[in-house]
Amino acid sequence: MYKKRCNDLVNELKITNQYREFKEINRVGGNYPLAKNNSSEINVFCSNDYLGMSQNKEVMLSMVDAIIKYGAGAGGSRNIGGTHKYFSLLEKSLSDWHKKESALIYPTGYSSNDATIQCLLRKFPDMVVFSDAKNHASIINGIRSVKNTKEVFRHNDVFDLEEKLKQYPLNTPKIIIFESVYSMDGDVAPIKEIADLAKVYNALTYLDEVHAVGMYGETGAGYSELLGVEKEIDIIQSTMAKGIGIIGGYIVSTEEIVDLVRSYASGFIFTTALPPSIVAGCLASVNHIKKSSKERDLLHKRTEYLREKLEEYSIPVLPESSTHIIPVIIGDSQKCKEASEELLNTFNIYVQPINSPTVEKGSERFRINATPNHTEEHIDHLCLAINTVFNKLDINKHEKQLLSS
Ligand SMILES: Cc1ncc(COP(=O)(O)O)c(C=O)c1O
Repeated sequence: MYKKRCNDLVNELKITNQYREFKEINRVGGNYPLAKNNSSEINVFCSNDYLGMSQNKEVMLSMVDAIIKYGAGAGGSRNIGGTHKYFSLLEKSLSDWHKKESALIYPTGYSSNDATIQCLLRKFPDMVVFSDAKNHASIINGIRSVKNTKEVFRHNDVFDLEEKLKQYPLNTPKIIIFESVYSMDGDVAPIKEIADLAKVYNALTYLDEVHAVGMYGETGAGYSELLGVEKEIDIIQSTMAKGIGIIGGYIVSTEEIVDLVRSYASGFIFTTALPPSIVAGCLASVNHIKKSSKERDLLHKRTEYLREKLEEYSIPVLPESSTHIIPVIIGDSQKCKEASEELLNTFNIYVQPINSPTVEKGSERFRINATPNHTEEHIDHLCLAINTVFNKLDINKHEKQLLSS
């Protein structure tokens, strides 16, 4: 009975091309973005290691040093022996970076959203949550696990948000949860407008900066830094697995909110702390990113070049995208998979197909991004390859333009 139920459920995914198959991608140390798939050397154009910090020498050496000095694991949760010295150093560095009073580190970005949101909503059972329709699964999971009143507003739509906020008395606790850079469309939230609405309607603001930290702002502290609105956001959440290049998540906020979450969030309390090597590496990476704009400047330069080249081949990019994340719509799950295979097998390029449920059916896509380590020649090769594959599989460029408008 159990086997059959499992097989039936998985088969449903296979029939609709939603079944996930993992490709083995062995990154070549010191040679990012090159990697090995079987014996072939391939070029990766879909990594979240946006700045190549996972291969930064200072970062790697700090990790090795911490392993030698302190061993491989943390040995327990933060409360039971797992709080090593790197936590206080990194939490101080993160809160200073985002101009907040306090920070709290989690094992992943997912758990930092899930556990923080769940905890806040449990401790404020009368709090109404206003969530952008395109928020990440980790946010949705946090919201779904509680009984609070939920309002989902249309993606990036401040008018719809205001209509929903208006329905509740001023003294009802409220929280607006949204992202700065959206990971699948590469578009940016109207952060300032949402923060202004929050003030009018007496709501807290919770901003996920996972796809912005490292890449935007004078010191890389994210889109809220770029716009100068950090102080208007109550809670900023981010990851250390993307721009920062390793793993881990965090929130920064007031002392009171961070202390509440530290004291009550089950997903923070009852899990093993990150090992010294990881936190030491994140600290080295954050401190490097704060001082050095070299990586993000080069990322944006390469992104601009990639956009120009795609345009030369009339490969339409989702028009909403204005960031380093470039969605190229295929609009068909089977073709999306085939195109990805073709890029890998014929051109040694790895771009993962993004199918539903991650994106809506009919908007299946490649989510492409360059990094500072890609050369113009790499990008030329990618665009020529995509164009060839589009022609071979008869992927209609015009239709995609209509779909995304
Ligand atoms: C918007 C957003 N928030 C949170 C996460 C989770 O971060 P992590 O990968 O560090 O768990 C992701 C991961 O892709 C994300 O895209």
